[in-house]
Amino acid sequence: MMSDNKIRIKKAVFPVAGLGTRFLPVTKATPKEMLPIVDKPLIQYAAEEAIAAGVNELIFVTSSSKRAIEDHFDKNYEMETELERKGKTGLLDLVRNVVPKGVSCVYVRQAEALGLGHAVLCAKQIVGNEPFAVILADDLIDGGDTPCLAQMAATFEYNRCSVLGVERVPPEDTEKYGIVEADVITDGLSRVTSIVEKPSPDKAPSNLAVVGRYILTPRIFDLLESTPRGAGGEIQLTDAIAALLKEEQVLAYEFKGERYDCGSKLGYLKATVEYALQHDELNEEFREYLRERFGKGGSEIEQLVKHA
Ligand code: G1P
Repeated sequence: MMSDNKIRIKKAVFPVAGLGTRFLPVTKATPKEMLPIVDKPLIQYAAEEAIAAGVNELIFVTSSSKRAIEDHFDKNYEMETELERKGKTGLLDLVRNVVPKGVSCVYVRQAEALGLGHAVLCAKQIVGNEPFAVILADDLIDGGDTPCLAQMAATFEYNRCSVLGVERVPPEDTEKYGIVEADVITDGLSRVTSIVEKPSPDKAPSNLAVVGRYILTPRIFDLLESTPRGAGGEIQLTDAIAALLKEEQVLAYEFKGERYDCGSKLGYLKATVEYALQHDELNEEFREYLRERFGKGGSEIEQLVKHA
């Protein structure tokens, strides 16, 4: 127990077994989580967000076609030896720090594609009886100084209950998300009263959508075990959360930051542009390129350089 008596989130689950069909053909042999935003794969952004929130155990729920993820987080002796020999210390640090000291990676296979709820259940033995985070890497969130999961972890530490990362979406998009109905507690924080997976706009209780960030109490595992197949014939995490909120308080937290749906081509492209504009090596030249391409003073460029 910490001296300040706070329960902290130490484990994060990354469901990465999905096929990524929306990005075919690139995802035929490359995991969608390995797609780069500038020079880092999506899964590394997700891992860094977890680590920034205090997580020290990264649990990947993976499948046979996702070996590149294990390799990415493993030591690469050949690369390190070569970089050392050439005296490229900057790059060497970069490669060595993909997994910082004190952080460990664990892999568990999801043998069948039975959905997000099933994927989370696969991590039950490894997580054990403690609260944990779930991060979906294709929702890339730029939370600025305080990344999204760290914002949520602060809410969890104070309230000691499950916290869902949510944002308002256009009403016509409700069928892409888990949608919550919630009572406002304070600005940006509400108590969830119901949750439903991918409702059509006419059936959606609100436009408050769960994005790929969850902090959950371990009770969710027992509930997942008895969750029948739901939307799309899959075991839905949303359905187990619906059962959880009958027993425990579940909060919806509207994070501060910008989310990019990198599971879609447009979201992926937007993230690439925005992250390139923030990138130390690239931003000047890239901004210049965009100016040349779109013309000075164009409204598009004003939008594009807003973060630069
Ligand atoms: C999953 C969840 C959904 C959530 C979404 C966030 O859906 O099932 O509740 O809102 O992630 O990205 P998927 O995008 O995997 O279909």
